[in-house]
Amino acid sequence: MGSGECRSNDYGAAAYWDARYSSPSSGGGAFFDWYQKYPALRPLLRARLPTSSRILMLGCGNSLLSESMVKDGYEEVVNVDISSVVIEQMREKHVDIPQLTYFQMDVRDMSFFGDETFDCVLDKGTLDAMMCGDDAPHGASKMLAEVARLLRPSGIYMLITYGAPKERVPLLYQAGCHRKIELHIMTTPKYQLKWSNSVPLPQPIMEEVALSMDGQLPPDYVLKDPESHFIYVCQTSDAANGANCVVAGEGKTVTSK
Ligand SMILES: C[S@@+](CC[C@H](N)C(=O)[O-])C[C@H]1O[C@@H](n2cnc3c(N)ncnc32)[C@H](O)[C@@H]1O
Repeated sequence: MGSGECRSNDYGAAAYWDARYSSPSSGGGAFFDWYQKYPALRPLLRARLPTSSRILMLGCGNSLLSESMVKDGYEEVVNVDISSVVIEQMREKHVDIPQLTYFQMDVRDMSFFGDETFDCVLDKGTLDAMMCGDDAPHGASKMLAEVARLLRPSGIYMLITYGAPKERVPLLYQAGCHRKIELHIMTTPKYQLKWSNSVPLPQPIMEEVALSMDGQLPPDYVLKDPESHFIYVCQTSDAANGANCVVAGEGKTVTSK
C-alpha cells in the first residue's frame, strides 16, 4: 500500500495475511514495519503518550513497533491481529516480555475488551488494509466505533497511514467518534535517506500542519515528498466514548455498554 492506492483487495482478508505470514519469501517469520519505524515515530509518541499508558496496537502484524516501545519504557502494549499465524509467531518471539500480549482478533469486533479500557489505540496501516477490503468503508467505520468504545475519556487514537486528509478526515469525522483531529505529516524513509546530507532538509522529517474539518490543508502548503505519510492524532468524543459513533451503512449509533 502507498501513494493512496490499494495494491490488492486481499489486504482486507484474513486468508491473505495468514498466507503472507506463513511464507518466508513474503517475510513470514521475520520482522517487518510498514511505512515508518519506532525511532522516527518516537518524538511524537513520547510527546503524546506517557509510558504508563495502556496501549492497544491494532493489526500489529510482525512489526517491531510494540517491542521497541516496551524497550523504551512503555509498560503495557496489547496487540491484536486478524492473522492467527502472525499472532502465534509474535507470542512465541515475545514470550519473555510480559509487557507485550497478543490476541487473534478482528478489529471490527473487539468485544473481548471492556469499554474505556485503553488510554491509546495505535494503528499503523490497519485502517488502510481495511479500506482495501470488500467490506470498505463499512468495516472501517465499525472498527472506528470499536476504537472509540475502548478509549478512556480524552484517550487518543493515533492513525499512521498513507491516506491523505481528503480521504481520511471525512471517514474519521463521519463516524462521529472524534471531536478533534491533529495532523502531522512525515516524509518517507526513502526521502529521508535521499536528502540525509542536505542542510537544511527540504522538508522536516515530521511537521504539524493545520487541518480543516473537511480535510483541507492550508492553501499555501506544499508536500515536498509526494509519498509522505500522515499521522492523525484523534481525541475521542466527550463523556460516554463511542456513544456518538455511527456505523456507515447501518445508520445505527453505537452506545457504550
Ligand atoms: C499493512 S499491515 C500493518 C502491520 C503493522 N501494523 C505494521 O505497521 O507493520 C496490516 C495488518 O492488519 C491486519 N489486519 C487486516 N485486517 C484486519 C482486521 N479486520 N482485524 C485485525 N487485523 C487486521 C493484517 O493481518 C496486517 O497484519
